[in-house]
Amino acid sequence: MGFFGDLFKKAEPTKVTVKGSGETFVVQPGQNLMKAAIAAKIAWPHSCKVGSCGSCRTTIVSGNGYYPSSPCDPTTLLTPEETEKGMVIACQWYPKGGDMEVDVAIGTEGDCRGQI
Ligand code: FES
Repeated sequence: MGFFGDLFKKAEPTKVTVKGSGETFVVQPGQNLMKAAIAAKIAWPHSCKVGSCGSCRTTIVSGNGYYPSSPCDPTTLLTPEETEKGMVIACQWYPKGGDMEVDVAIGTEGDCRGQI
């Protein structure tokens, strides 16, 4: 597509599959991974929703995304080993489109199913 094509490429939704449970949901451009999961009634582990507790840690098995620039660095909640194996802070991380697979401890501590 070339440099300008990539630059102006329209942002596309991301289709996410949860490893193990097989649940799927869609993340719209500009929406973070965890927010989209919760909106889809998936029992994503979480607590603070603002990038300070680390309970939403998620391993990205395949797919790409980014942290928007912010004064706080959410990656400080991860150990170097976790970062190395592809873990992200899902409430602060934005998928970039396409298909994605994630590995997350659905239904564990921080489970909010039934409270949404
Ligand atoms: S929910 Fe607390 S860091 Fe994401």
